[in-house]
Amino acid sequence: MAQENSTTHTAEEDARNRDIRIWVNGELKHRDMAKVSVYDSGFMLGDGMWEGMRLYNGKWAFFDEHMDRLFDSCKAVSLDIGMDRAGVLAALTETAAANGMTHDVHCRLMVTRGVKVRPFQHPSLSRSGPTVVIIMEHSKPVDSLQSEGIRLATVPQVRGLPMSQDAKYNSHSKLNCVIACLQAEQAGADEALMLDPHGFVNTTNACNFFIVRKGQVWTSTGDYCMNGVTRQKVIDLCRADGIPVFERNYSLVDAHGADEAFLTGTFGAQTPVASIDGKPVGTEGGRGPVFRRIRELYAELVRENTR
Ligand SMILES: Cc1ncc(COP(=O)(O)O)c(C=O)c1O
Repeated sequence: MAQENSTTHTAEEDARNRDIRIWVNGELKHRDMAKVSVYDSGFMLGDGMWEGMRLYNGKWAFFDEHMDRLFDSCKAVSLDIGMDRAGVLAALTETAAANGMTHDVHCRLMVTRGVKVRPFQHPSLSRSGPTVVIIMEHSKPVDSLQSEGIRLATVPQVRGLPMSQDAKYNSHSKLNCVIACLQAEQAGADEALMLDPHGFVNTTNACNFFIVRKGQVWTSTGDYCMNGVTRQKVIDLCRADGIPVFERNYSLVDAHGADEAFLTGTFGAQTPVASIDGKPVGTEGGRGPVFRRIRELYAELVRENTR
C-alpha cells in the first residue's frame, strides 16, 4: 500500500523548492514574500480558475490543450485573464528562468477575478483586474506511487450536475472534491472514488479514473468529471494503438472486479490503484500489461511533445 499520508500528488522532497520565486501579477517574489490580498476573490469565494502543467526539456507538455481549457473556462465565467496565450507563455518562461527550471517541473497557474472593493460576492466588486499567480516547483512523483499504488474508497459525496457547478471548471473552489477527499481519508484510503448522480463510477477527487477488464479499457462517459488533458491523451493513445477503449457508464461491481485500474492526471501521469474499498484490484496491485503499455505510450508522447 502507499506510504502513510501519501496522496496521488506526493512528490519527492526537493530542498530547492524552499527558495523558489513565485510570479504574482508580473512580479517575482520569494515564496515567503509572495502574497495576495485578503480581499482577493479567489481567497474569499474560490472565484478563479487554475491549470496544473508540467515542464520537461524546457517545454510545457500539452500547452495548447491546457490553454484551451483555461481560456474556455474563464470565458464561460466572464473572467478576463488580462493576457493572451503568448502572454501566459511569456510569464511561464520568465518564472522558469528566474528559478533556473527546465525539467521535471510542476506549475500551478492561477487566475482569479482579483481584489474586491468590499467583502461580498458580486463579481462587479472586483475592479482592479485579475490576480495571476504562477507557482513552479521541482517535482517528481515519489516512486511508491508506482510500486505500491493508491488506495481508493468510494465516498458518499457525488459529482455535481453541470447546471450546478460544472465539474469541467478547474475552479479554485474545489470544496466538492475536498469533502470527498476527507471522506476517503476517514475511510482509511488515499483518495476518493466518486460516483455520478445516477450511481455510476465517475472519477476521483483529484484525478480521472480508468479500469481494465479483459483487455478493454473503460472510463466514465466524461460527463460530471474534469475533462482531463491526461485522460484524453490516454483515450487517444489507446485508439491509435488498437487497445479497445470505451467511455461508458459502469458501476462499482465492474470496478471491484477489474483486472487493472489506474488514475490519470498531469502530476503523476498514470498511477495504479492497488485497492478499492479494501478489495485488491487484480493480482498485481492495479498494474498489468495494459497499464504498462499505456504508461509507456504516454511517456513517449510526452517526450515527443517536449522535444
Ligand atoms: C478533479 C480533477 N480531475 C482530474 C484532473 C486531471 O486533469 P489533467 O489530466 O488535465 O491534469 C484534475 C486536474 O486538475 C482535477 O482537478
